[in-house]
Amino acid sequence: MLPQRDQTDSGSRGPEVAVPRPAMASERERVPEMPDADKSPVVAIANRLPIRPGDGGWELSPGGLATALRPVMRTRSGAWVGWDGGSKGMPATLPGLRTRLLPISLSVAQVRQYYHGFANATLWPLLHDAIEKPRFERGWWRSYQDVNSAFAGAALAALSDCQGAIAWVHDYHLALVPRLLRERRPDQPIGFFLHIPWPAPEIFARVPWRQEILLGMLGADVVSFHAERYRDNFVRACASLLADVGVQVNGSTIVLPDQRQVSTTTAPISIDTAEYRRLAADPETAAQIAGLTDQFRGRSLLLGVDRLDYTKGIVERLLAVEALLERRQDLRTKVAFLQVAVPSRDNVVEYRTLRAAVEGHIGRINGKFTEPGSDVPVHYLHRSLPPEQLAAYYAVADMMLVTPLIDGMNLVAKEYVTVQHARHGSGSMILSEFTGASSELREAIPCNPFDTEGLSLRVEHALALSQSARRAAITAMARYVAAHDVHRWVARQLRDITAAARTGGRARMDRQLVAASQPGPARSPGPPASRSRQGRRPDGARRH
Ligand code: ADP
Ligand code: F6P
Repeated sequence: MLPQRDQTDSGSRGPEVAVPRPAMASERERVPEMPDADKSPVVAIANRLPIRPGDGGWELSPGGLATALRPVMRTRSGAWVGWDGGSKGMPATLPGLRTRLLPISLSVAQVRQYYHGFANATLWPLLHDAIEKPRFERGWWRSYQDVNSAFAGAALAALSDCQGAIAWVHDYHLALVPRLLRERRPDQPIGFFLHIPWPAPEIFARVPWRQEILLGMLGADVVSFHAERYRDNFVRACASLLADVGVQVNGSTIVLPDQRQVSTTTAPISIDTAEYRRLAADPETAAQIAGLTDQFRGRSLLLGVDRLDYTKGIVERLLAVEALLERRQDLRTKVAFLQVAVPSRDNVVEYRTLRAAVEGHIGRINGKFTEPGSDVPVHYLHRSLPPEQLAAYYAVADMMLVTPLIDGMNLVAKEYVTVQHARHGSGSMILSEFTGASSELREAIPCNPFDTEGLSLRVEHALALSQSARRAAITAMARYVAAHDVHRWVARQLRDITAAARTGGRARMDRQLVAASQPGPARSPGPPASRSRQGRRPDGARRH
């Protein structure tokens, strides 16, 4: 049960962000004990808190990051620093969470410039291979810097209150925070996890503030990604874009001019499988399943579940369903497709355009293929759903369509196989090869969502698979997910951060001692005003 939200304050925002004061300067000198990764508290710093204001009170925050961090905070003490989502009266703790919530309020201008602007109209499209054109505005960048400072200030205060804590910074909204923390607490173990893809260096190089962003992330001891290709792209970006400020790359390790070492790792995120198994067996889920089974009796149910985001390939999925129904008239009353779309970022124009496009396609397809007297082929829910209802949809769906054009991980895929398996289901899953999940869930039916006709053929093929083949695939994938759940991911991340803080810091001290015994100027990292004469192209090649 979520706590009741104080509705009277909803939507009220202060004039400007209350910037928590950074910790006292004396902290610079204090060398903290290296935490024990298995027991130490965690100060998580993420744009989203686990709950946000919704129409009917507090609701769970959408998206993979909040879903993944929530269970972790049940078992660890510490704090979770995040944006209050524009509401007042956020509770200090949540039932079942050991972590304190430390909300940060943002002004209306900051929400527009930092969140809708720089985070979601600059970095989001840029890091997703620029599939929508990123917009670069200096005002947004300045706001992003200000808000990152505010988050860093709140995190420093939380770290001072929480001796021996690991600082764990999340996602593209807060790329500058690790360096801001490092400047104030040189020996603090800090991790940075990116929940979304990282593009090829040539694409990342388009952002005017590329060095500040890279150096911001490199304030961490470990920078982690879902997939090897994203980690590799990041390392190549550091090699090509930071060479002229003295940053070196040694395999997967980045060496800063002060000799501090930053590890990069691949750490695919996951779900709390026990929680999804519990949800699958919940009486409320069972009641929902009974209703849905009645509703879709006699038809195969195809399902899509996503935030309404242009990275998710929702339009391509609809076009594939249309192509299928065009080709196979016999399926028009035998197949139903349900798209559940959680509203997302509707202050960003590309998201509003996407919603109009999705709803336009659904209207057209239903207008074209609904048989008189029969149900529509495409069902559409534009809302957040309670977990039991979502689990019921996963349980009754004969096929899950996970078709992003690019996606860091995609937790929905892992949730589907887990619930299906827990209910002894034999659904099939079509999974885009451009998701992080595709390198883990190898028994899924792979697809290239850019090829909508090919996608429709994959759906047709999946509909014809034997039940035993489908069940075998679901079982294999569910077992994999269970063996690689979010608790394992957290334990490894925290262990990696602690270990890297030890080795990276030691390397820095050793090399500084050597450097101190030799004459020569010290270099410090910082974004130069211009490229060095032998600056490199973003692909790593030297300029001629
Ligand atoms: P992203 O992080 O890009 O949103 P993921 O697939 O990794 O994508 O995570 C989405 C999370 O949001 C999943 O945990 C999923 O259960 C949840 N979710 C998606 N759609 C809905 C919905 N309509 N209602 C509630 N939760 C949803
Ligand atoms: O998991 C990817 C992610 O971008 C998170 O970083 C983000 O919190 C989530 O999707 C949902 O987006 P938003 O916070 O903008 O609603």
